[in-house]
Amino acid sequence: MKKPLTLILAVLALLGQSSLFAQKTSLKDAFKDKFLMGVAVNRYQINQSNKKETDLITSQFNALTAENDMKWMHMHPKKNTFNFEQAHKLLKLAKANNMFVVGHTLVWHSQLAPWVFKTVNGDTIDNLELTHRIEKHISTIVGKYKGKIDAWDVVNEALAEDGSYRKSLFFQIGGEAFIENAFRFAHAADPDAELYYNDYNLIDAKKRDGAIRIINSLKSKNIKIDGVGVQAHWSLDEPSIEDIETAIEMYAQTGVKVMFTELDISVLPSPWNSPTADVSVRFENNPAMDPYPNGLPDSVQDQLAKRYADIFKLFNKHSDKIGRVTFWGLHDGLSWKNNFPIRGRTDYTLLFDREMKPKKAFNAVIHTVKD
Ligand code: G3I
Repeated sequence: MKKPLTLILAVLALLGQSSLFAQKTSLKDAFKDKFLMGVAVNRYQINQSNKKETDLITSQFNALTAENDMKWMHMHPKKNTFNFEQAHKLLKLAKANNMFVVGHTLVWHSQLAPWVFKTVNGDTIDNLELTHRIEKHISTIVGKYKGKIDAWDVVNEALAEDGSYRKSLFFQIGGEAFIENAFRFAHAADPDAELYYNDYNLIDAKKRDGAIRIINSLKSKNIKIDGVGVQAHWSLDEPSIEDIETAIEMYAQTGVKVMFTELDISVLPSPWNSPTADVSVRFENNPAMDPYPNGLPDSVQDQLAKRYADIFKLFNKHSDKIGRVTFWGLHDGLSWKNNFPIRGRTDYTLLFDREMKPKKAFNAVIHTVKD
């Protein structure tokens, strides 16, 4: 009788220790031998307005991305006006806590300033002027933070879903050369900064192949590109682990680092067939599309934890190819997915709940390294 009881007690003690381990271990410590663990921070967090949020950010993560504040509309709102205030604050927070900083993002068709494609007369600028404007934007901002900002999302979302170039005004005016110009200017402004191409749906075969085409084209012209940023706005069952693995392997074969730059897992029904991050598309809300306004049922909490665990088991397996995993937001209450693609829903995308407590998914992620 004594032996089985001792065994049961030992197992219980071990289980207790392991959940205690999960609670006490931070993401950055747990994954320190694998890859950086980052988080996207909003303006209030960059301003350190809430001590509890600052403490959670600095205790759990070792990489920072500004969720919005370093986009063109904020940093370069008028032709001759640059605004460095928020980037300075972000750097201060990061450097005081020994964190890696990603500049997000230099060239993106969205969250741009209205002047960018216009002459003083309101006409559309030509390619030469566009190239000058991109050069000034990049050399001023990247140059300002030379040796301080570790890496840049140089070009964001230049691909359409079929893998061809997105027909943005950058592309319509500048052709595909706007991409190589942007990378050249960034490299000239800070030769040591890491330079990335960043996009969503990069696991889908057509878009994945489009990104590989961009990487190979830059490399064939001896233009520096260090990494591909796979945004990772995913759902409980898409994309499949097999497809994520194939993409990791294919990107790594091009010789660049793979980064998962905007990870969140939506548990809500999607009005589309596949997850996306095209912010121009929106749908109307209704109760069927917002099933958990008052809390997430345990069964779905478990599904989310398992999904996160499956993803991190794969990331751990390929940690030699992965440089960083960044969560797109600190806690569920702040996730952009609460308002996209339908406004005003209640989603549960991240590892910390609305009270900033670690969820089952947090423990599940930590345990992928421990086990
Ligand atoms: O700051 C204004 C505020 O003054 C105003 O009262 C409020 C009213 O709606 O809007 C606030 O601006 C919002 C901003 O986020 C800051 O919260 C914008 O409306 C809203 O559109 C904007 O959304 C951001 C989105 O990019 C815009 O494209 C999300 O926070 C941000 O998470 C999201 O991030 C992008 C990545 O940069 C690139 N990849 C896709 C990802 C998700 O779309």
